[in-house]
Amino acid sequence: MTDSNKSLTVAVCPTGAGQHGRAASLAQKLALPLVPCESEGYGCLLVCTAAGLHLRFTGKNPPGPLMVNFTSPAMQYRLKHGGGRRQALARAVGLKKGWQPAVIDATAGLGRDAFILAALGCHVHMLEKAPVLAALLEDGLQRAARSEATAEIIRHRLRFTQADSLDFLQHLHAEAYPDVIYIDPMFPERTKSSLVKKEMRILRSLSGADENGPELLDVSLRRARNRVVVKRPRLAPPLLDRHEPSHRIMGKSSRFDVYLV
Ligand SMILES: C[S@@+](CC[C@H](N)C(=O)[O-])C[C@H]1O[C@@H](n2cnc3c(N)ncnc32)[C@H](O)[C@@H]1O
Repeated sequence: MTDSNKSLTVAVCPTGAGQHGRAASLAQKLALPLVPCESEGYGCLLVCTAAGLHLRFTGKNPPGPLMVNFTSPAMQYRLKHGGGRRQALARAVGLKKGWQPAVIDATAGLGRDAFILAALGCHVHMLEKAPVLAALLEDGLQRAARSEATAEIIRHRLRFTQADSLDFLQHLHAEAYPDVIYIDPMFPERTKSSLVKKEMRILRSLSGADENGPELLDVSLRRARNRVVVKRPRLAPPLLDRHEPSHRIMGKSSRFDVYLV
């Protein structure tokens, strides 16, 4: 097992006035220990603060805290300068004037791709199975719903369910089938750890084994009304050996495989 596959031990802690109750109920909901923020011995701490929930890493040279922040300067920059409907992700889902598809994002992660699609007009239903990531996403959505810059997008075009997408899609009723299903599985492990972004390693360790990409694509092809889009490393083979995509859209560091159905 490589470092990035080890699961992190997580505890919840409150910081600042009035956060204890919130931290206690979150700890209970996630079945995690509630501890003081100075505690050692955990891989990371889910810290409840007045400014929102963030995941703080312990140990040597820890990465910066992880938080879902749809109003961050980086996200706002991507919204303004990311290329709008011309960016690879938007082209891959088929977004165009007069067609703003209903999308299920089957691997929501930190919700960035879903948020961009929603900001561009799609109705996006995010699914995420990892409880800690789900808690971060819910917190980010609540804060963004209160911000003038993002309230409209969050209230009308972005929703979230904590679920295993395989299970969710298998049990979906025909009338709820989306136009597009988007899958962004964890990229395969690389030998040079510098190639795997820190954040990706953390996501991987929080979500546990994430080897269900091929099954997800298989069920998605039977649920999407228009297409399934899979994000892949630029040079990786397709997710399903026996199934070549209809076309590919190359991005800077990744590509989107589009399966028209
Ligand atoms: C690479 S991340 C996605 C990043 C995301 N596109 C973003 O923009 O932040 C993959 C995520 O998919 C989640 N995931 C993997 N398999 C899943 C499944 N069957 N159901 C729900 N979530 C899943 C993992 O927990 C992980 O958070």
